[in-house]
Amino acid sequence: MKSELYDVSEKLQLRDRLRRLRKTESLRLLCRETRLSSSDFVYPIFVDHRLSEVEEIASMPGIYRHPLSGLKDEISEVVDLKIPAVLLFGLPKRKDALGSEAYSPDGIVQQSVREVKKVAPQLTVATDVCLCQYTDHGHCGVIREGRVKNDESVGLLSRIAISHAEAGADIVGPSAMMDGQVGALRRALDEGGLDETLVMSYSAKFASGFYGPFREAAESTPLWGDRRSYQMDPPNLREAIREIEMDVGEGADIVMVKPALSYLDVIREARDRVSLPLAAYNVSGEYSMIKAAVQMGWLDERRITLEVLTAIKRAGANIIITYFAKDAAKWLREVDR
Ligand code: PBG
Repeated sequence: MKSELYDVSEKLQLRDRLRRLRKTESLRLLCRETRLSSSDFVYPIFVDHRLSEVEEIASMPGIYRHPLSGLKDEISEVVDLKIPAVLLFGLPKRKDALGSEAYSPDGIVQQSVREVKKVAPQLTVATDVCLCQYTDHGHCGVIREGRVKNDESVGLLSRIAISHAEAGADIVGPSAMMDGQVGALRRALDEGGLDETLVMSYSAKFASGFYGPFREAAESTPLWGDRRSYQMDPPNLREAIREIEMDVGEGADIVMVKPALSYLDVIREARDRVSLPLAAYNVSGEYSMIKAAVQMGWLDERRITLEVLTAIKRAGANIIITYFAKDAAKWLREVDR
């Protein structure tokens, strides 16, 4: 009987049939090139000095500002899910021009580090080293004549890093995008006898609209102006590589690209060029975007999230800082990927 369909098999004469590789789930598992694991993740945590009760962040459903006393439960969940590291952000009890709470030995991050180390000494604790949550003007450095001054800011950032490391932080993460911050931190740490503390540099940090929900979470929106005179111009790839190479030269242990999703090309280029561990920060806006679409019933959260995180890893990041860390770790436990 003559087929209704136009049969082209003779003309095609295919030897290679890539679909063979996708025939069954077990074949797909066998041929999978990128495997996501909970050990890829760093979970960011917000701790607020003024709180006694946990508070959900409106623009980031499922993410909370914790009081110091509530940190324990969050940490044991992270440990149970085999997530190897947390990244701590603090909201201070008061702000001033120099962000002095950021380097107070009893600041919220310093106390949080000690608390985490007490409940889970084996968990890696990273801290964000910046001034914007702590300054009354909301910029990431010292202001003089209406400008964010580089070198004075670097001095304060070094003080913050030392105080975090003294509290027991394993990794300090300078995120202010001041020139020379990595070298200054490395030197200050070494001189302070803190040579075992790692520096994870927010090397290629772009002036991105995707930080919006974070700024609400951390109350760190600048009072005037924006961060474009220190964070990178989003269209620039070659300059991102210069930033990364400069940090490598100054002694960074881990370099980072941030945000992740609109900068997968930067992640790939960085991976091909430097041999250091490479982190990518899947930032607040990238999280909120998915959460909002899921709430509308427009996207399948689990599927989309694992797809996105896998893409960040495929692009070349081997450390993924993500607000989805706990959820993704749970999902990965359920399915064999
Ligand atoms: C502090 C800092 C920011 C983020 C991480 N560290 C905010 C900013 O630079 O404005 C953003 C993280 C996120 O959006 O998830 N400088």
